[in-house]
Amino acid sequence: MRKLAAGNWKMNGLTAQLPEVTALIAAHPSPSCDVLLCPPSTLVAAMASTAAGRIAVGGQDCHPKASGAHTGDISAAMLKDAGASYVILGHSERRADHGEGDALVRAKAEAAWVAGLIAIICVGETEAERDAGKTLAVIGTQLAGSVPDGASSANTVIAYEPVWAIGTGRTPTLPEIAEVHADIRARLTARFGADAAGFRLLYGGSVRQSNAAEIFALPNVDGALVGGASLKASDFGAIVAALSAA
Ligand code: PGA
Repeated sequence: MRKLAAGNWKMNGLTAQLPEVTALIAAHPSPSCDVLLCPPSTLVAAMASTAAGRIAVGGQDCHPKASGAHTGDISAAMLKDAGASYVILGHSERRADHGEGDALVRAKAEAAWVAGLIAIICVGETEAERDAGKTLAVIGTQLAGSVPDGASSANTVIAYEPVWAIGTGRTPTLPEIAEVHADIRARLTARFGADAAGFRLLYGGSVRQSNAAEIFALPNVDGALVGGASLKASDFGAIVAALSAA
């Protein structure tokens, strides 16, 4: 399995930031993990051109339909056409800001595959859910509802992102991360059999240079989905280096 360092630029980035991609590639010309950046959709084509296949480029969302009267939305085929090979789906900010539920996320994943994109399906508990001891149950429900039956290690990546850890500088303890990742692996095994071992399970939520190596050393952690620390080549490059060394 090739591990995956994925960066999510969220609603950040203008063409003036594209040199970060050039700098990242120059600093890490042949990492032993896959490297992906997901810029805002306005930058997908330009970033793919800049990256020239040296790193992968992805979208942050797509519509479940291939085309049609959906003003402001973007289809998976459009992302693919612009040079994307991945798309993040069901990020907690989409779930919270746009009311996206599991059934919609599932439909988007199926649309992503039709277009030839790899779906990164995000799950994660809120702080109240963790405090109530519901973390594994919540994630189990999200996995059951958001991951389509057609998922495979080739077309799907799962990202565990505790909502309360995103952009806060707070992370679960290492045993807490390991517990959730083991539970996700077990649920995938129950559903998909032997192929579950090949699914890449990313941890996301306040991954930094300072904590990346210890998180990457955990069993069933096959990479990271990184927000704030993916914007600068120097920050993200350190995380790429940590994953390459893991
Ligand atoms: P963060 O975001 O690294 O800034 O916490 C992670 C994410 O939302 O993917």
